[in-house]
Amino acid sequence: MVIPSARSTFFLLISSLLVVSSLVSAENYNQEPEFTVPLAKGLSWSFYENSCPQAEDIVRTQLKKVFKEDIGQAAGLLRLHFHDCFVQGCDGSVLLDGSTSGPGDEQDAIPNLTLRKKAFEIVNDLRQRIHKKCGRVVSCSDIVALAARDSVALSGGPDYAVPLGRKDGLTFATPNVTLANLPAPFSNASTILEALATKGFDPTDVVALSGGHTIGISHCTSFTRRLYPTQDPVMDKTFAKDLKEICPKLDSNGTTVLDIRSPNKFDNKYYVDLMNRQGLFTSDQDLYSYKKTKDIVTSFAVDESLFYEKFVIAMTKMGQLSVLTGKNGEIRANCSARNSDNQAYLASLVDDDVESLSEF
Ligand code: HEM
Repeated sequence: MVIPSARSTFFLLISSLLVVSSLVSAENYNQEPEFTVPLAKGLSWSFYENSCPQAEDIVRTQLKKVFKEDIGQAAGLLRLHFHDCFVQGCDGSVLLDGSTSGPGDEQDAIPNLTLRKKAFEIVNDLRQRIHKKCGRVVSCSDIVALAARDSVALSGGPDYAVPLGRKDGLTFATPNVTLANLPAPFSNASTILEALATKGFDPTDVVALSGGHTIGISHCTSFTRRLYPTQDPVMDKTFAKDLKEICPKLDSNGTTVLDIRSPNKFDNKYYVDLMNRQGLFTSDQDLYSYKKTKDIVTSFAVDESLFYEKFVIAMTKMGQLSVLTGKNGEIRANCSARNSDNQAYLASLVDDDVESLSEF
């Protein structure tokens, strides 16, 4: 198995530039994008064309039903992909349940405690649906990437092609490594830029990715240190007053939306919030205070198509971070457990898996 640091470096060095169309119609998800993106070795735009052509339809059809019931789940799935990719790459490791007696797993790390339980259930449900049609050929990490894309598209954002062919990792990261790889909401822009540069993101990518906060919610504890003991002078006064009602104390356990203008719509209003000093986290608001990112925020606030274009490029980069492909990793039968820990379940699948596995 390739070690994570080698894989990260490898990603940065990849230079097989492919020219493809990013914004695609709902019926033809994986057409070639118009922008130029380095495609990680082993990934392709048509990876399941023969082995599971229904995979993308299964994900989209099911998520349409899920979001009809609760559009908030879209935000949970988008965040799950981000947390997967930033910690030892997009290898589905965040999905792995650790042993109850062990030293703790990726899911135990503080930032992961607020991932939605339901997001994990949705991914496992999608995995079973795909398995029923195609056998064990589609990885959990690919399912998470597709679910994130559909979360954006079905919330009104851009629809885009996702390179596929990731394998699932065999190990998860420790809570400390996880914490070190996921930026904190109280970081300032310069810290965030520095941290993300090590993963190959430029300032435009960083501002675009932060636009993921155009949907979803946060718990009070992720931002109350901007309210107590002293109020962050940058924060809009009325906004601060409203937040104090939702979160009367430093450790209140309420929640509030990330984008006050259109919390469930994937649009560019998050950037309008920032221009009005109504960004929830320091890591958001400081993008408008910091000179290297301020103009990018403004450009996205005035031009939604530009935001969509840059978001798709940044997500495509993020979705390829340190991916495992080819003979590395595995395709999990159950997204929450690696296969060797899961022999009984595997045995029950053997009949319909034999054919599909022979391709690998
Ligand atoms: C740049 C650094 C980032 C920081 C510091 C950050 C921090 C956070 C925090 C603290 C929360 C709220 C957790 C809670 O209290 O419940 C959150 C929520 C969220 N984040 Fe980020 N995030 C970052 C980047 C991203 C990226 C790159 C994406 C996706 C492209 C993203 C998507 C989301 C979404 C959709 C939610 C809402 C989740 C839900 O409603 O369940 N974030 N983020």
